[in-house]
Amino acid sequence: MNKFNYQENIPNNVNLNDNLSLQRALEQWQPKFQNWWKNMGPDGFQNSDVYLRTATSVDSAGWASYGKVKMPDYRWGIFLAERSKDKKIGFGDFKNQPVWQQVPGDYRSILRRLIVTQGDTEPASVEQQRMLGKTCPSLYDLRNLFQINVEEGRHLWAMAYLLHAYFGRDGREEADGLLERHSGDKDNPRILGTFNEPITDWVSFIMFTYFTDRDGKFQLKSLAESGFDPLARTCQFMLTEEAHHMQVGETSITRMIDKTLETMKNNNSDSESKIRSYGAIDLPTIQKYINFWFSSSLDLFGSESSSNAATAFANGLKGRPDERQYGDNMELDTSYLIESHENGKIVNKEVPTRNAMNEITRIAYIKDCEIGVKRWNRMIQKSGFDFTLSLPSSRFRRNIGIWSEMNFDINGKIITKAKYKNNIFSWIPSETDKDFINSLMVQVTEPGKTASWISPPSRGINSLEINYKYVDIK
Ligand SMILES: [Fe+2]
Ligand SMILES: [Fe+2]
Repeated sequence: MNKFNYQENIPNNVNLNDNLSLQRALEQWQPKFQNWWKNMGPDGFQNSDVYLRTATSVDSAGWASYGKVKMPDYRWGIFLAERSKDKKIGFGDFKNQPVWQQVPGDYRSILRRLIVTQGDTEPASVEQQRMLGKTCPSLYDLRNLFQINVEEGRHLWAMAYLLHAYFGRDGREEADGLLERHSGDKDNPRILGTFNEPITDWVSFIMFTYFTDRDGKFQLKSLAESGFDPLARTCQFMLTEEAHHMQVGETSITRMIDKTLETMKNNNSDSESKIRSYGAIDLPTIQKYINFWFSSSLDLFGSESSSNAATAFANGLKGRPDERQYGDNMELDTSYLIESHENGKIVNKEVPTRNAMNEITRIAYIKDCEIGVKRWNRMIQKSGFDFTLSLPSSRFRRNIGIWSEMNFDINGKIITKAKYKNNIFSWIPSETDKDFINSLMVQVTEPGKTASWISPPSRGINSLEINYKYVDIK
């Protein structure tokens, strides 16, 4: 039997070589992971050579190497940001006490739940995206898809590492569970709703990377504040990779809109049918995809007022993103105004700040989402057309939290269920819209060529040419 070589196969900065019990645990898990990748990872392309970035250290000057790799041979590593000396807990009841290097006994199950919930999203997105290679708009995009997929695989490794290293037997069981639940599975689905939504077209994929990976950024930032230091440092390093996922989202949506505007200009028309007939995507349809993925991603933050969130904050396990920006990191007796409803009317309601952590984080997320929307609107304005993209109201189409029992229009106005049902497909993609989008999804694999609905990228990867052969398809 071939012995698995840790040093060679799992780049890491957790002394894996010297940690026999962790090696033994991962020995069991690693083949299950490989199996999962084979069955649930990208469909096809497993023999293709892909120009990929691999994390090899946490040195900010050069933390990754680039080169052609077959995806099953990707070196999924375990990296934690460097440990800083005398680090103190930054928030909650234990503020200013030393961070924990081991799991505090009292908070074992809540910490485990936080790690499992985060860990579950990583393989889920790989599963959601597994068919997209068949309809890639270019080799460059295909490579970006696979880059994201292998990095989500590495994020799964990061969370599985924490479970194996710090949670004993139940950690091992949970790490197995991460490979056993599957996106959209009727009997054993992924934990969070958005991660069970099918992603069968590239417009959904680029919206997902803009909106849903950005939720990931905010969750990771909150966990990077954790008093449980191994979790904090793991998430800090994951954020380095996550930035690229969101950048793929932002630049891809920009390229899609660019193509739409070019088509509108060339034909001096904003007619939906005309734009569509030229193989570009009309702006109202793009707006519908924004509405869908934004509203779905908002649910990932949880209820506006949450006792779980309050407990995680009080115990120093999960903070707010960039906790240092707040003057008060204890929020002991403070309160926060959230929007709520009473007798069918929207009212402001005061809740303890600790209970409002989800909402505070969601609001920061929405602000971050708006940056791209502003940029896209400037492009539209510059091209001389009268159209404004916008984010829907955060009350629209919510399935979790205080708005989930009510119906709202896109502007957040309360409407009847009947009105909502009658209008929903003027706000989110209808079957006809989806059919049209699917009709555009044709695979383009000639180097330097790009599908009709999206402009070519403005530059290549890691200073390579745009028409470099980013994937040798085999
Ligand atoms: Fe991730
Ligand atoms: Fe991601």
